[in-house]
Amino acid sequence: MASILIVDDAKNIRDHLTSYVRGLGHRTKGAGDAREALAALAEDRFDLVISDVRMPDMDGLALLREVRGRRPDAAVVLMTAYATVPQAVEAIKAGAYEYLVKPFTLEQVGLLLDRVLEVQRLRHEVVSLRQALDEPALLDSTTPTMQQALATARQAAASDVTVLLTGESGTGKNVLAAAIHAWSPRHARPFVTIACTTLAEHLLESELFGHMKGAFTGAWKDKPARIAAAQGGTLFLDEVGDLPQPVQGKLLRFLEERRFEPLGGTETVEVDVRMIAATNRDLEADVRAGRFREDLFFRLNVVNVTLPPLRDRRADLAALTDHLLAVVAARHRRAPLHLAPEARRVLTGYRWPGNVRELMNTLERAVVLSRGDTIRTEDLPDRLLAPAPAGAAATPPTDLSLEELERRHIQQVLGDSTTLEEAAARLGINATTLWRKRKRYGLD
Ligand SMILES: Nc1ncnc2c1ncn2[C@@H]1O[C@H](COP(=O)(O)OP(=O)(O)OP(=O)(O)O)[C@@H](O)[C@H]1O
Ligand SMILES: [Mg+2]
Repeated sequence: MASILIVDDAKNIRDHLTSYVRGLGHRTKGAGDAREALAALAEDRFDLVISDVRMPDMDGLALLREVRGRRPDAAVVLMTAYATVPQAVEAIKAGAYEYLVKPFTLEQVGLLLDRVLEVQRLRHEVVSLRQALDEPALLDSTTPTMQQALATARQAAASDVTVLLTGESGTGKNVLAAAIHAWSPRHARPFVTIACTTLAEHLLESELFGHMKGAFTGAWKDKPARIAAAQGGTLFLDEVGDLPQPVQGKLLRFLEERRFEPLGGTETVEVDVRMIAATNRDLEADVRAGRFREDLFFRLNVVNVTLPPLRDRRADLAALTDHLLAVVAARHRRAPLHLAPEARRVLTGYRWPGNVRELMNTLERAVVLSRGDTIRTEDLPDRLLAPAPAGAAATPPTDLSLEELERRHIQQVLGDSTTLEEAAARLGINATTLWRKRKRYGLD
């Protein structure tokens, strides 16, 4: 049973609909105008509002906007005899679920109710599943580059500005995209992710923009655009660097105009979404190589947030490890686990080429393998214990001055060490000498 508010200034239509919907087993309330409707909404929770468009004083579209603002959970269906395209587009843009064209039969209303309430039900289910599954992220840091990235992301979240997230694989771009949405005024509306890698070109295009039945072989029914599913919320384009060229052009047009036509369609759809894009590629290099459109790059790169690799966040490693260990233990329904000091040393000494994802996977494996409440070195994969391959660093370029060579070597060792003492020991000098050299080379 759902609760449904029916708004119409024509008493006979209102009464007729109210009694029909009540007959279907729902709780209903009638309202003669928008003001009455808003008063009812302030008092009670409704799953669905069915409202006439043409009403004196405040019309259905204005009511729709009020409802979206005050009760984003409630679905809204508008009824009108003036089913003109611009009005329909405007209603959908403002968040209406459906449009009922007068004159309609009661059977049509019944079918529509089923559909809308099913969507509502699934939406609630998704929200509660997400809440149950969602693992908190650790979004603070003591590393200046990370602090800067988080500060920029928080600032950008407050506005509708397009954000491009860059950084190596596993640094947390997806996590941060979701956080930006959660920090933004759009947080109660959908967050829709589209992975640009996984789909073939024409599938990606129809995923993004939707298609009409018969638009291409295999399009046996209309498919709604995922872009439109993000209406009022945030659209996250993941791995945007993998977008095929023709889709890049279409996306650019959408970013410029905030409207598009579904494949094989003639009507233009307008949507209001906030865009976030992410990539682990060097997009600027792709632009230079002609693989990625420069104009699209500029549209996406309004605010850039670059997540530093984990090896440059040594200071965060301990806190992140503890946080992820708790997350993973909970995921496996295990009591809180401790790290043996030696195991912690191993984790701290490793370079983490796979970044936070590799740390997470390593801890998950360790939690599964460990016995009792302590994770020991034996529970960690062998690659963490083996010394880092020396290959790359073995042959420095021969045109470097001795001083530059020293500077680079010190920088590298500092990056790989947790403490100044450790770095000094590796370099074979004392900590005071290292401290002085570090100052001189501007490495602090
Ligand atoms: N700050 C964080 N707190 C908790 N978990 C994190 C954090 N950052 C990343 N993770 C975890 O690390 C893993 C990788 O993160 P994510 O998928 O966001 O990386 P990515 O940068 O999008 O990588 P890719 O470029 O490969 O898509 C995920 O399991 C995520 O939950
Ligand atoms: Mg990702």
